[in-house]
Order: sequence, then C-alpha cells, then structure tokens
Amino acid sequence: MNHVFVTRLLPDPAMQRLQAVDLVLDVWPEPGPPPYDELLRRASGVHGLLTLLTDRINARLLDAAGPQLRVISQMAVGVDNIDLAACTARGIPVGHTPGVLSDAVADLTIGLMIATARRFFEAHADMRAGRWRTWEPMGWTGPDLHGATVGIVGLGRIGEAVARRLQGFGVRILYHNRGPNPRAGELGATYVSFDELLESSDFVTLHCPYTPETHHLIGADALARMKPSAILINTARGGVVDQDALVEALRSGQILAAGLDVFTPEPLSPDHPLLRLPNVTALPHIGSASIATRIKMAQMAVDNLLAGLAGQRLPHCANPEVYEN
Ligand code: GLV
Repeated sequence: MNHVFVTRLLPDPAMQRLQAVDLVLDVWPEPGPPPYDELLRRASGVHGLLTLLTDRINARLLDAAGPQLRVISQMAVGVDNIDLAACTARGIPVGHTPGVLSDAVADLTIGLMIATARRFFEAHADMRAGRWRTWEPMGWTGPDLHGATVGIVGLGRIGEAVARRLQGFGVRILYHNRGPNPRAGELGATYVSFDELLESSDFVTLHCPYTPETHHLIGADALARMKPSAILINTARGGVVDQDALVEALRSGQILAAGLDVFTPEPLSPDHPLLRLPNVTALPHIGSASIATRIKMAQMAVDNLLAGLAGQRLPHCANPEVYEN
C-alpha cells in the first residue's frame, strides 16, 4: 500500500479524491507549514509527497524519506523550494501546476498595476482616517496605465496572459526573455535587451521563475536604470528583487512606487520597511488565490501524485529530464 504525506489540508474536492484512493494518507493538520524536522519525520518511508511552496525539499529531506519515494507533487507552478537536481539524481519526478493559474495571476498583476499607480490603498487608508476633506484637483493622483510603456520580464505563460490583458489598455509592450517568444508578435510585444526594458518602461512587471540566474535580477544597478516615474510590479518570487536595494530606491525617489505580491522571507515581518512606505502596495502572495484556481491547482497536484504513485509519467512534470534514462 502506498503511503503519502500531504503537507497541508487541500481544498475539499482534492481531499475527497485522495481519501477515495487506496492509500495510507497522512495530512498535516495545522494551518501553517510543518516545521522542517516534522517534515523530515513524516516524509520518512512515504511513496509520495504532496507539497506546497512553503516546504523546503532538499537532499537531506529526500534521504530522510528513503529510496522508496516515487513522486513529489507540488501544488504550485514555481518549484524553487525544491532541489530539482537532487530529485532528478534520485529518479524522482516532481509535479507542478503550470497553466491553470496564469489567468488568475495575470488578473492580479493588472490589479496591482492600477492599485499602485492610482494609490488605492493610500486613498482608502486616508478615507478611513478621516483625511478626505474635499475633492482636490491633484489629490491622490498618479500615473496612467493606459498609454504607458510596460516592460514584461519573462514572457512565458503568465507574462503572455498579462500581455493579452494589456492589449485592452492601449499600452506599448516590451519584453525581455532568455530568448524571443514566437507568440510575441500577436501579443504586440517587442523584444528588447534587459537594460532597454528598464530604461524605457513606465511599469516593469516580473514574470520569470526564481533561479540562481534570476536571483536579485532587480538590484541596485537595475533600479538605477529605471525611470524616476517607474513602477515595479512583482508577482513572481521575492528573491528576484534585492529588497534592501528596492527599499532604498523607493525611499530616495529613484523609482516612483512598487506593487508586490511576493517577498523575502514569507511571511514578511509587519515591521519591514517595505510595509511602512506609502509608495508600496503589498499583498500576501495571493496571485493565484481565486477559489476556482486554487481548486484546479489542488486537483492537478492530485493528478500528478496519483500518476507518480502508479509509475506513470506525470502529466505536468517540472524535471522531465528525469525520464531521459
Ligand atoms: C505560486 O506562487 C505558484 O508558484 O504557484
């Protein structure tokens, strides 16, 4: 009989599917992630792990799990919390959930662009604090999204979904990628160098995976290239941005504002300077948090898990090279 550890309670439809299968199922019952020691303990002897992006899956964990481990299935598209090379070296396929969340993340990205530029949260806080005295000609004003130049860093599934939405705003779209995207033409997106994107964009929006190559991609140098009127949007991963450099750039007026859904670390301390700056719109990593999307992600994670346990190829595998030998 297969043993499975699920590191958090999943949405009901996914939980019900797992319960209907012949499995020995261990589900972490707490609202927060299992502490690493607990993860090591509960993973020991399992055949499958269903994880979230808050779980650290490294070689030590794989060793603690043991050689019978056949599949890791993560309910997320990003797998930067998982040492993929260590999984591949042990022949363990890693499942993830690409595609189903692109639209939800793109919706939120557009929301964050407008909320940041047009100062939704500052205006809301002022209203609640009784600071709405009159209609002021230049009160709570900010830059337009329509007509702006938007630079997309990473024109993959999510970047493309953002570009599709932006077509409705009459913006000029620039993008930078590891290589040109063949669908860029129909999206009205123009390939430019990273420096040109930074120098020309009114909004810079990040949609690349977090890897050693993208670590602190937006650091002091990149921020210095951006316009003083520019807005940075990050719905990718906190580590793509050097947060200390960003705080400095926002304080000094080197850039205008930032809309951030992801941080280092998560959760971010409520005392963090980013949460004290008036020109930051911050959200607690809710890019994919629509009800339907989260249910689809959980179902996809169950699909990957069950395929892996049955010795089948995962429908959505983050390390397909595992099947090469
Ligand atoms: C969320 O951030 C994900 O990677 O799915």
